[in-house]
Amino acid sequence: MSAGLVPFELSTIGGPWGRRLAPRRAWIDELPWDEALPSSPEARQVWTATAFSEYASAAAFAEIAAAMLATGAPIDLVAAAGDFVVDELVHTELAARVAAALGGAVALEVDLGKLVRPPVAVDPLLAAAELVVRTSCVGEALTVPILKLSRRLAGSRLVDAALAAVVADEASHAQLGWWFLDWADDRLDDDARAHLGRVAGGAVRAFAPLLGAAGCGRSGLGVLDCAAYDPAFVDAARRSVAAPLAARGIVIPAADLAAVGADPARE
Ligand SMILES: [Fe+2]
Ligand SMILES: [Fe+2]
Repeated sequence: MSAGLVPFELSTIGGPWGRRLAPRRAWIDELPWDEALPSSPEARQVWTATAFSEYASAAAFAEIAAAMLATGAPIDLVAAAGDFVVDELVHTELAARVAAALGGAVALEVDLGKLVRPPVAVDPLLAAAELVVRTSCVGEALTVPILKLSRRLAGSRLVDAALAAVVADEASHAQLGWWFLDWADDRLDDDARAHLGRVAGGAVRAFAPLLGAAGCGRSGLGVLDCAAYDPAFVDAARRSVAAPLAARGIVIPAADLAAVGADPARE
């Protein structure tokens, strides 16, 4: 066990801080928690992993907000990035509660010092773009169609309602990426775009096994079987990530797309 690993646990402090958050998370209490759910070790695993990936997404948007402030980005866009930290923390609570409703979260050891991979670029604008591309343009953009599919196969009122709420938020988390790149457009030269293409390619490769390991089981309750998951991932990588990036002059290297089965030649 690495010195950095700790059990993944969540707590709240309540008081004024609980009251401040209450309006944002109130909808969670309205979900149909009384539904009788079957026991599914796979679903408990998936929702526990989801709770942690939502927590890591909160860290990513905190970094993005700080990086955007350092570039003088439009303040409404920065405010959205900061606000997304709250969305992701609410998703964290939701996923933990769904795991509990399915029989309990599984034990997970995590490294809280490595929630966000630091950008390679030193230039503040390119560093911010790197974070935005990885999180919004790849991670969130891939997540939206996968969650929609997962929702169609959920077979549970609770999981359906939970995924419906999450997917609505993730769609705007993805949009932030395209708006940031369009704002930064005239400050990104060819080298910067080539760099961002490589960053996106690495992120697509990284998300393939990440989502796959968490998502490949028997479909239902938020789990996707590989036969459903794999073509959805390939389609999302092409249509929701590679195409809108290419429209902005950011080309994912063909080898990265081929590595996840999404090379244009096989379309
Ligand atoms: Fe989320
Ligand atoms: Fe998100």
